[in-house]
Amino acid sequence: MAEFHDLAELALNRDGQSWGNLGYWHTANDYSDACRALAQLLGDQAGLGEQSVLLDAGFGCGDQLLLWLEHFGVARVRGANLSSSQTVYAKTKLAKVGFKDAAAAIMRGDINDPEVWWLALQGDRPSHIVALDCAYHFPSRPDFVGLARQHLAPSGRLALTDFLLADQHNTGSFVHRLLRWMLRRSHIAEANIVHRDHYRRQLQESGFSDIRIIDVSEHVMPGFARFVRKLRRGHSVADTGKNLGWSGQIKYRVTGRFLEWAYRRSILRYCLITATKTV
Ligand SMILES: C[S@@+](CC[C@H](N)C(=O)[O-])C[C@H]1O[C@@H](n2cnc3c(N)ncnc32)[C@H](O)[C@@H]1O
Repeated sequence: MAEFHDLAELALNRDGQSWGNLGYWHTANDYSDACRALAQLLGDQAGLGEQSVLLDAGFGCGDQLLLWLEHFGVARVRGANLSSSQTVYAKTKLAKVGFKDAAAAIMRGDINDPEVWWLALQGDRPSHIVALDCAYHFPSRPDFVGLARQHLAPSGRLALTDFLLADQHNTGSFVHRLLRWMLRRSHIAEANIVHRDHYRRQLQESGFSDIRIIDVSEHVMPGFARFVRKLRRGHSVADTGKNLGWSGQIKYRVTGRFLEWAYRRSILRYCLITATKTV
């Protein structure tokens, strides 16, 4: 059966790169650089370093695992990704550049499944758990946060990039009905998308403190929309010359338009979130 999260994003990337997030477009001009910049920002905010034992939830095709290992020099990575094709790709990518242990330590699995955590962690208590541009796709973000709390080492850190409802957005409005339709189409559970206060409360109630929510929408949502507008001529991606096919074209064009609309109308916000496990 076709997967919703597959290898389609390879066409958006330069050769050798395989990112699949919305990107941080503050200074980046190309998709791979923008995606790496978003990952770098998350790693910085998480405070990754040489002592870190990291669980990566939704690691995509593995580029971010290399960033954690090579740039941040983390001691160990573990990870789970729902997508089979991406997990195989990531394992091959890591093994090719010599990270054989890391390749063996990542697995296919649904991060909302408690069993997957035991299998993925193999007895480790991670100092850090990251979810780069994917928590909104999880079946339940609160359940994910609860599992993160359960498995993190004392004072461990959780770091995510995620969508929130803009403060002024009214959930009783017609616009909200449109948003709900779009979320369903994008495989996003409606209950995952909440206002900032609600999000903060969920983290507090799950046993997290020192919660920081930084709004980075202006460097994410319009940047991705601008990038996608460049895909319009023909099938191939302007920056890479690679073929996206019709379904890929439509998927990204619809996503780009939607993000532009949700940003301009102050419906959604894209944020960097960090929290520390309360001892
Ligand atoms: C938008 S992509 C981001 C990929 C990658 N983090 C990146 O930045 O390139 C979302 C990722 O979340 C993963 N994902 C979605 N639902 C998941 C779940 N329930 N458990 C684990 N991974 C999941 C997808 O397979 C995909 O790799």
